[in-house]
Amino acid sequence: MKIAIGNDHSAVTMKSHIAEYLRVQGHEVIDFGTDSTQSTDYPIYAEKVAKAVVSGDCERGILICGTGIGISIAANKVRGVRCAHCSEPYSAKLTRQHNDANILAFGARTVGPAIAETMVDVFLATPFDGGRHQRRVDMIAQLEEKQTIE
Ligand code: RB5
Repeated sequence: MKIAIGNDHSAVTMKSHIAEYLRVQGHEVIDFGTDSTQSTDYPIYAEKVAKAVVSGDCERGILICGTGIGISIAANKVRGVRCAHCSEPYSAKLTRQHNDANILAFGARTVGPAIAETMVDVFLATPFDGGRHQRRVDMIAQLEEKQTIE
């Protein structure tokens, strides 16, 4: 799978760990940075990963900041993004099954590497259930359209 990954200064070590973890499994990882621990602004990397995913260039995205919250809020401003902020694997699985989430966000300061690996594993492996969940995902897309019109 081709995966976009991005992070702010608080998550450089975690990003490198997860990127390597994915590459060892044979995934193609496009790293949008940052690789610096100098203070930066997480919306920059949220936008890069979001655009890589909604354009279809990458199948899924992974975003990491201190808590995962700011970077997920920013990514969800990009039309077509369904970014799920998770801190345990059950939510990472359910957000694929029910929300067809296309980006996983988590916090480098709130989640350890073993939990992060498991969340990434289930996020990439779990298919969307469709059915009644498709209707709800379609309603989210309609909300985006309404914001454009009003
Ligand atoms: C950066 O200090 C921190 O605010 C950021 O990584 C993130 O936690 C924001 O939601």
